[in-house]
Amino acid sequence: MAVTNAQSGTNVHEIADGIYRINTPVEFPGGAGGFSFNQYLVVDDEPLLFHTGPRRMFPLVQEAVASVMPVARLRHISFSHVESDECGSLNEWLAAAPQSAPLCGQIAAMVSIGDLADRAPRALADGERLALGRHSVRWLDAPHLPHAWECGFLMEEQTSTLLCGDLFTQPGNGLPPVTESDILGPSEAFRHAMDYYSHTKNGRALLEKLASANPATLACMHGSAWRGDGAKLLHALADALSA
Ligand SMILES: [Fe+2]
Ligand SMILES: [Fe+2]
Repeated sequence: MAVTNAQSGTNVHEIADGIYRINTPVEFPGGAGGFSFNQYLVVDDEPLLFHTGPRRMFPLVQEAVASVMPVARLRHISFSHVESDECGSLNEWLAAAPQSAPLCGQIAAMVSIGDLADRAPRALADGERLALGRHSVRWLDAPHLPHAWECGFLMEEQTSTLLCGDLFTQPGNGLPPVTESDILGPSEAFRHAMDYYSHTKNGRALLEKLASANPATLACMHGSAWRGDGAKLLHALADALSA
């Protein structure tokens, strides 16, 4: 693991072949505890960044990407849904990488990104595949899971990595880049404390769709990435949501 900014503690770690987790730890004010923001960089002929990081964190994330490859090579700036940590610095990335465009689902493109972004988005339909080179990603719509109508995820098929956004949010910072131990427990405790999941009735069906992709790595946006039987853990999440 390489620390790319000594002051913030921003660090980079390759979690699967050609997929880098960029992690920045933060402390909530007033001793409310730690948290962390992750972005994932897929290095290939058409490099892809999943999550931009919050707008004010752009210099840190840019510095971290630059430690792996030239920022100007980025082609796809992708994200799960429209919130500042997912896509707050989208336009900064579009400016830094002149060949890049936003990559998102059709609802995000129609409702927000067609207007918010400085360049037109490439919108993927549910199940649509995009080749990046050695890697390829498939967009999976997941409306309202865990939140936002436009929500969806990318499945990277070469490494069986599900870029799973906020599904398994773990509080705290300084967690290992990748873990094989329990992440559902901490994520469930945080969900009960914060209520950031929508109350959609379609959670189980959507989680079964994600599980059918059989991920071996779950690339979480907050906390550690997780390695193991992804389908089993997604089913366990469905059970926890319906309990
Ligand atoms: Fe979110
Ligand atoms: Fe998030």
